[in-house]
Amino acid sequence: MKIAILTSGGDSPGMNAAVRAAARTASHYGIDVVGVMFGYRGLIKGDFVDLDRNSVSGIIQRGGTVLKTARSEEFMKPEGRAKAAENLKSVGADALVAIGGDGTFRGATILSKEHGINVVGIPATIDNDLIGSDETIGYDTALNTAMDAIDKIRDTADAHERLFLVEVMGRHAGFIALETGIASGAEMIILPEGLRKIGEIKSKLKETLKVQKRSTLIVIAEGEKTGGAWHLEDQLKEDFGKYDMRVCILGHIQRGGSPTAHDRVLASRLGYEAINAIRDGKSKIMVGVINHKCVITPIEQTFGKIKEINFDLLKMAKVLN
Ligand code: F6P
Repeated sequence: MKIAILTSGGDSPGMNAAVRAAARTASHYGIDVVGVMFGYRGLIKGDFVDLDRNSVSGIIQRGGTVLKTARSEEFMKPEGRAKAAENLKSVGADALVAIGGDGTFRGATILSKEHGINVVGIPATIDNDLIGSDETIGYDTALNTAMDAIDKIRDTADAHERLFLVEVMGRHAGFIALETGIASGAEMIILPEGLRKIGEIKSKLKETLKVQKRSTLIVIAEGEKTGGAWHLEDQLKEDFGKYDMRVCILGHIQRGGSPTAHDRVLASRLGYEAINAIRDGKSKIMVGVINHKCVITPIEQTFGKIKEINFDLLKMAKVLN
């Protein structure tokens, strides 16, 4: 038996730990492993590299992905997918382990439908927006990175008694904003899921600013409906012009760094389970962890739907912060 492994889409800390776990579990069972460089783009080009127990040594603690990654336009076209399937067959791969987020799984699903490729997904995205796993690989590390950065912003905000609008990542989802907002004691948290109108944001901010505070932090998700931190600043200028306001976009810093212990363990579990699932004859699935237990979900059910944030947490944040 032979399996191919790739990482695709936005990288997330812990992808390497998942590659290591999948490669080592496969090797434990005598399954050959081939790595695909640069995700689907590399699959189309036939950019393969042999993997074994030793070649994945010393990577569990590294951020990024040793297999590299890409967002491939070509894979969106039928001809690109046909080439990718042909290359997979030519190296003798019986299954493809795809490590990534919603775009990766959408691609894996189509590849499997069009060309009968057995695909198994491992959820890895800092956005945590996939159905079928309480958490995705990289989310915990991104939370901690963003929290550290916001703590530092708090120091300078306090020193100047400023109002800061801090934008965190999350293309369509507010998971990072919600939890970093709580963890850093932000005075306001603005999420895509909150559907807050600008009028509501302004009146809440007026209330907040009535209380004598050394600084005010608003954490806003990049995918928020009113258009992110710069746009919000524009909208607030008129009414809150007397406040010394600053915008800070945390950006890709949130995707880098050494994975937390939590992400390394999650990635190890999911890499191991992906290979077990293939050995058990499972196909077109994603492995995940729900309530601390490993579960499998049909891969086509994992993306394209809204994964609900915990609204109880948002309610709590309104009281605490
Ligand atoms: O999906 C992860 C993510 O980091 C999102 O939070 C963000 O919107 C996007 O990727 C950025 O993608 P890119 O690195 O391609 O600009």
